[in-house]
Amino acid sequence: MILNALIFMNGFALVIGLLIIFMDRVISNYGLCRITINDDKEFHAQGGKSLLRLLLENKYFIPSACGGKGTCGYCKVKVLEGGGPALPTEALILNSREQAQGFRLSCQLKVKNDLSIEIPPEYLEIQEYRGELSLAELVTSDIKRIRIKLVEPQTLTYKPGQYVQIRIDHDGETDFRAYSMASNPDKQGEIELNVKRIPDGLGSGYLHSLELGAPLDLSGPYGDFYLHTDSDERIVCVAGGVGLAPLKSIVMYWRDHQKHRRLELYYGARDLPDLYDHDIFTSFAETYENFHYYPALSDAGDDWNGHTGFIHMVMEECLETGNTGEAYLCGPPIMIEAVTEVLTNKGIAAERIWYDKF
Ligand SMILES: Cc1cc2nc3c(=O)[nH]c(=O)nc-3n(C[C@H](O)[C@H](O)[C@H](O)COP(=O)(O)OP(=O)(O)OC[C@H]3O[C@@H](n4cnc5c(N)ncnc54)[C@H](O)[C@@H]3O)c2cc1C
Ligand code: FES
Repeated sequence: MILNALIFMNGFALVIGLLIIFMDRVISNYGLCRITINDDKEFHAQGGKSLLRLLLENKYFIPSACGGKGTCGYCKVKVLEGGGPALPTEALILNSREQAQGFRLSCQLKVKNDLSIEIPPEYLEIQEYRGELSLAELVTSDIKRIRIKLVEPQTLTYKPGQYVQIRIDHDGETDFRAYSMASNPDKQGEIELNVKRIPDGLGSGYLHSLELGAPLDLSGPYGDFYLHTDSDERIVCVAGGVGLAPLKSIVMYWRDHQKHRRLELYYGARDLPDLYDHDIFTSFAETYENFHYYPALSDAGDDWNGHTGFIHMVMEECLETGNTGEAYLCGPPIMIEAVTEVLTNKGIAAERIWYDKF
């Protein structure tokens, strides 16, 4: 008797749920909605899609590194009018101050009526590019160096450390993934990416599978992780694995424009075959007196007589205390946390530490 009642209630809830989804998808017609941006731009679009999707369709490029899954938090925009309350899923990403100020994740906000939003003015500078694959080579067992020659427009202006978003069309859908530019920003016609293959990964699998000459669509530049050139202080760069990519761009820019500053590169990898571009930085250390290179292996073999252990442990030993400077970190979250603690203990102000976690 109780079992029958439970089955009936579950079945009833399922039918109601499906009905709501059906009404929302098929019957609901939100009509034409006006989206106003920064009070001086607007477009009209049929409601029913996410704000992020409508912005992208109308060539407003918002960072969306997780491709709209609601996990990266990069796509937040301030909604001035028409947004309604944030969803519970957004509360996991947006802090209470951001929620009180009206921030929403644009990938989670379904447009049902007119909206007025505010986005950082630099987002309006982001452009779409078409390129073609000009080089693809494995640099470790799972990281590929990929070069993309820009075809239309032919040049991309960016700051060392910034990233692009690659467009991936699959199964009738469009997704985006973020990849840092590892190239010298002075070479504006071609960008280099270093892509680590993730098992069953959509974006990394796509980039690893491309043949030379294959066309690619991307947008950029994105990100506030870039070298600040307004000081003459020491630069501390810390990379873990493929997190080397944006730091390589910073190092290349430093060589051409900022050599008067001391630059220390701490670079952690598992073993020697994983330490890619090691020869470039070794030769920099021999050539430039202000360049100091600290590679470290966490699982070193007998053929390695350099630093061993995790990179934050090496910094604990080698980074001078009390020195001022600024730091740029890129690698997995656990590395960023451990390194940040070492840097602040050594005297680098928290507001002079920048990072990208991935
Ligand atoms: C600002 C920024 C810059 C980035 N720059 C780079 C870069 O220069 N080079 C680079 O290789 N990546 C970079 N990334 C990461 C990149 O955007 C993708 O997240 C990564 O390539 C995985 O995407 P995917 O589509 O291949 O995997 P997905 O299809 O998204 O994921 C497939 C599965 O793998 C899991 N997964 C996702 N990432 C990892 C991981 N790192 N380790 C283990 N499991 C994982 C997922 O949870 C999922 O189960 C950057 C990310 C950000 C936010
Ligand atoms: S795109 Fe990642 S949270 Fe919205």
